Amino acid sequence: MEMVNTGLKSVNKKLMARHQVGLICCTYDYFCAMENATSYPKEKINILLLEGVHPSAIQLFHDHGYHSIESVKGSLTEEELRNRIRNIHLLGIRSKTQLTGSVLQSAGKLLAAGAFCIGTNQVDMKSAIASGIAIFNSPYSNTRSVAEMVIGLSIMLARRIPEKNQAAHLGLWDKTSEGCNEVRGKTLGIIGYGHIGSQVSVLAESIGMRVVFYDVEPKLSLGNATRIAQLDQLLKTSDIVTLHVPGTADTKNLMDLNRIRKMKKGSILINLSRGDVADTAAIRKLILSHHLRGAAVDVFANEPKANNDPFVSDLQGLPNVILTPHIGGSTMEAQENIGIDVATKLISFLETGSSTGSLSVPALSLPVQQNAHRMLHIHRNVPGVLSEINGLLSGLKANILGQYLKTNNDIGYVVVDIDKKTSSRALSALKNVKHTIKVRQLY
Ligand code: NAI
Repeated sequence: MEMVNTGLKSVNKKLMARHQVGLICCTYDYFCAMENATSYPKEKINILLLEGVHPSAIQLFHDHGYHSIESVKGSLTEEELRNRIRNIHLLGIRSKTQLTGSVLQSAGKLLAAGAFCIGTNQVDMKSAIASGIAIFNSPYSNTRSVAEMVIGLSIMLARRIPEKNQAAHLGLWDKTSEGCNEVRGKTLGIIGYGHIGSQVSVLAESIGMRVVFYDVEPKLSLGNATRIAQLDQLLKTSDIVTLHVPGTADTKNLMDLNRIRKMKKGSILINLSRGDVADTAAIRKLILSHHLRGAAVDVFANEPKANNDPFVSDLQGLPNVILTPHIGGSTMEAQENIGIDVATKLISFLETGSSTGSLSVPALSLPVQQNAHRMLHIHRNVPGVLSEINGLLSGLKANILGQYLKTNNDIGYVVVDIDKKTSSRALSALKNVKHTIKVRQLY
């Protein structure tokens, strides 16, 4: 395992003063150890980044004055991570590191963790919520990468490039325009007009395609795209159909044999969404019967767990079918965007308390505090906590300059901007509120 310590060895006092994030952090159970803390220089915020998180994240942390960063190339086992996480304030992982309940229990100082990827199955979210640890991820940073690939695949399939390519590799010269078309002027039917679908729409129009889309939610058309109210209508009229819906009970087998049959004869089907949205046995049948001219599939119901594990699909060996190993969003640019996106969310949570995009702490988008100290209080969501907090603050005759509250089923997040004179007494009072999970103060 290769480790790179990017921390600075020594810092002069002026720099430290400038870089104070002014943070006191305590979980309810280990207050006493932190009792004497008054503020936290950024130099003392320990950041551990695993699995080769993109350098764009490290750069951003440096730019914001955080230098105690350790970046590890691979993932850590549960036990290694339990040992390493004790003094860590911010953690970055990707998809391989398991952030289990037992790891989170050892993470007494952890304020937030960033999953520098799309999914968060690797995080025990229930434990993160119970510990008031903010979990962030980056669900949309690879949108453009997926959209570009859809355009590329559309052109490749319309020109029958998979067959030409294979023939050329085998030493055959198959020069004919038979069955090969431009995409300009053709109709692209987009199912699911969310982040990716709408981006595909813009790119497709820019190369002269006519775009129609179907979505279960009301969506504003971009450019000249036309919304179609009935899915069957889209299937009947599109030369290329591309799927961009989420994986839900409603979208499972959305494109079954019956639906794919409703597509125009000689049309193309592209699935870069989820494996079980389109039935691969049905695609096989309709490619072999020449109802479909071609297909591109990037996602499969049963995907290998690791590189080099065997991959089996009933679409293998078919003409004009492109199969790719779930790489729609896998580009260097997407990794860089993910690095910036997640690091920005972590820094914002640390420095302002904003939890926008968090999957565990209720989402609050907060203004920068002005002439006040900010109290951040995470507590179990049971009746009476807010009135207890307000009662305590009013007993202290605190001047409250701003108050924000958001709750989810399990926890509540209260942020109070308070006059500087009262803040230290308020902090002590907030620590003693029943059902407190974490309290922080920002200067
Ligand atoms: P999104 O949540 O922004 O958009 C999904 C859209 O589908 C929404 O507008 C929603 O209203 C619509 N929708 C939901 N159910 C529908 C239905 N039954 N019929 C029609 N529309 C429906 O999601 P985003 O970011 O655009 O992602 C789309 C898909 O792409 C997801 O399944 C995601 O997992 C997948 N994806 C695949 C990648 C790859 O590497 N191949 C990379 C990134 C995302």
